[in-house]
Amino acid sequence: MNSEDLHLVPTYQKFPIEIVRGEGALLYDSAGKEYLDLSGGYGVAIVGHANPFVADAISNQARKLITCHGSMYNDTREAYLSELAAVLPASLSRIFLCNSGAEAAEAALKFARLFTGKNEIVAFTGSFHGKTLGALSATWNPKYRKSLDDLLAGTKFCPFGNLEKAREVISDTTAAVLVEPIQGESGIHIGSESFLKGLRQITEEKRAILIFDEVQCGFARTGRMWAFEHAGVVPDMMTAAKGIGGGFPLAFAALTEEISSALKPGAHTSTFGGNPLACAAGLAALRFLKRENLAEKAALNGAYFKNELEKLASRHRSLVREVRGRGLMIGVEFKIPIRDVIVKGFDHGMILLYSGLNILRLLPPLVITKEQIDAVCKRLDPILIELEGTRATSKAADTEGAEILSAQ
Ligand SMILES: Cc1ncc(COP(=O)(O)O)c(C=O)c1O
Repeated sequence: MNSEDLHLVPTYQKFPIEIVRGEGALLYDSAGKEYLDLSGGYGVAIVGHANPFVADAISNQARKLITCHGSMYNDTREAYLSELAAVLPASLSRIFLCNSGAEAAEAALKFARLFTGKNEIVAFTGSFHGKTLGALSATWNPKYRKSLDDLLAGTKFCPFGNLEKAREVISDTTAAVLVEPIQGESGIHIGSESFLKGLRQITEEKRAILIFDEVQCGFARTGRMWAFEHAGVVPDMMTAAKGIGGGFPLAFAALTEEISSALKPGAHTSTFGGNPLACAAGLAALRFLKRENLAEKAALNGAYFKNELEKLASRHRSLVREVRGRGLMIGVEFKIPIRDVIVKGFDHGMILLYSGLNILRLLPPLVITKEQIDAVCKRLDPILIELEGTRATSKAADTEGAEILSAQ
């Protein structure tokens, strides 16, 4: 038994693997075995594991100043904010810095309530915004909400992608509509341009705040800096986290000047929010992302990866239902539960991630190479061949319409 199991509360599903080192899209376990990382730490390792540029920035900043509360000015925070603002839509000129995706969602929901004076939140089926109580209120999966009856009052869910239903549910009493432009945790579902544009229009009509959660789909993952750029829709607020700190905990909510002007000093703060170390990491990750054109790489390599996976799927039609996604945010939906694919993946030198029971979610570092993508497809092939053999004997395992379960 690993002694982590003695001390940690058992809220993480654990795989029997101990990772001690990383480099780019590769991870190494304590026995020295190499893995291609298709999970990217649940989408965090956008600029690659142990990115030297980020590591240098953290180490230099750590020698200079690690902590500086938001009540004082700091040069590194100032530099980060100005470079971050330059890659955000001009209208989202105000930024709240924090430490995780859930915290960013909490801030965004609270700001929307404070600004509008209303308390109703509309979210969507399949949504994931975090597991703290407020963010969880807008997270759809009943598995995470079980036994927690008293979440934020006034939260309603609409079917993702269904504009007609959204029109029925979003009303004058709605404070905010919170949506992922591309849903990650429920298995890579792309919000269509017409859906996102429709939400923009309805929220304007109802004077509700439109919040895009870019925690998983943002920061160049889908081939554009922010996934909502594909739809040409700008929200009133957005949240981001995961890869923006190059692996270091960092998150933000960005909002309009108008919403920001309703927030008074003390209304929302975080001791660690915007600390110099996180800002140094964020600045280095952002500069690396731009210098290496990672958005373009995600678009090109993502299209290549999807195409190769489609070829693989066509050879294994009895197992694979669909390959979908944008950039390096790809879902492979199977007709069978995929736990075995994940487990066999370790043997074949791959860290894979699942969404629900039957969807493989691929969120590799954007520095993954074509050769590494080829290696992934090559390693998946024998796993699927083996599973086809098993499948022949257990047809009842088809998961069409199965409840979404997740290891998130
Ligand atoms: C879209 C989305 N929003 C919010 C979160 C919550 O982020 P965190 O785990 O950093 O709290 C996640 C995490 O997976 C996510 O995918």
